[in-house]
Amino acid sequence: MSDKNSTPGDGKAKSNLGEPTPLAKQHLQSSGRLYDLFLSGHDERVFKLHHYFDIYERHLSRYVGKAPRILEIGLGDGGSPELWLKWFGPNATLVNIDIDPPGTRLSPDSPVLTETGDQADPAFLARVVEKHGPFDIVMDDGGHTARQQINSFNALYDALRDDGVFICEDTHTSYFDQFKDVDEFMSMIEFAKQLIDRLHEPYLGQEEYLRVRQPMGDRKGHAMASRFAARTKGIFFYDSIIVFERHVRSEPWMEHR
Ligand SMILES: C[S@@+](CC[C@H](N)C(=O)[O-])C[C@H]1O[C@@H](n2cnc3c(N)ncnc32)[C@H](O)[C@@H]1O
Repeated sequence: MSDKNSTPGDGKAKSNLGEPTPLAKQHLQSSGRLYDLFLSGHDERVFKLHHYFDIYERHLSRYVGKAPRILEIGLGDGGSPELWLKWFGPNATLVNIDIDPPGTRLSPDSPVLTETGDQADPAFLARVVEKHGPFDIVMDDGGHTARQQINSFNALYDALRDDGVFICEDTHTSYFDQFKDVDEFMSMIEFAKQLIDRLHEPYLGQEEYLRVRQPMGDRKGHAMASRFAARTKGIFFYDSIIVFERHVRSEPWMEHR
C-alpha cells in the first residue's frame, strides 16, 4: 500500500483523503429485519461484524420469502444458518459446509443440511455442488485464508444461478500475513482486484471499443470475454466483504440519443 497519508494520483490535484481521521464510536451499524434478528440473539452462536447486515440487506433481501438455495461455508457455533433461515423464511434451503462435523452445534431436528470437508479441496466442493447445487447464494465465512477463499470462489462461482450472489466475508484477513498461504503477495482482495480487469474485457483494445458503438445488426460474429466476464454484473468491495453479482451480460452498446 502507498504512504497512508496520501492518495494515489500524479500529485497535481491536492487531496486530503489520506488524512488521519477518527472513526465514529457507534454501537448500531446496520438496520433492517435481519439486523434486528441478530440483535435479538443472546446465546452467542452468531459471530459477525455489525456493519455486515446492511450489506446483506442490500444484496440478498430480494430472496426473502422466496425459495433460495443457499450454500454457507463455516458453521461456527451453529447460529448463523438458523439466522438465515429465520430471515429468508421456511422455503429456503440452507446447506452448510465445515471442516469439522456439526456435532451438537445444530439441533437434531434442524432443517440445515450439512457436509463435512475442506473448503480448499476442489474435489470436495465439486461433490457438494453435484449433490446440492445450483445455488442462488454462496457465502464464504470459513477459515479465511487466501487458499481457502480463492479455491472456494473458483470451485463455486459457476455453481451459482445466472442471477446469483457470491459473498466472501472477513476479507480483512487479506492484510494478515498468517492468512497468506498461497504466496506472500496473493490474497482474496488481490485476486478480486484482478477480476476487476476481467470484468472490463469487452473494452480491452481499440477494435473492441469501436465495436461497442456499432448497432447490434452491423456486428460480425460475437465479442468474446472470459466466462467470468460473461457472467458477472458487478464486484462490490466493502469493508471486509466482497460481493459478486452474477448476470448474463450482453455485448456493450453505446449510442447517441
Ligand atoms: C468464523 S466461523 C463461522 C461463523 C459463522 N458463519 C457465524 O457467522 O457465526 C468459521 C468456521 O469455518 C470452519 N472452517 C475453518 N477452516 C475450514 C475449511 N478449510 N473448510 C471448511 N470449514 C472451515 C471452522 O470450523 C468454523 O466453524
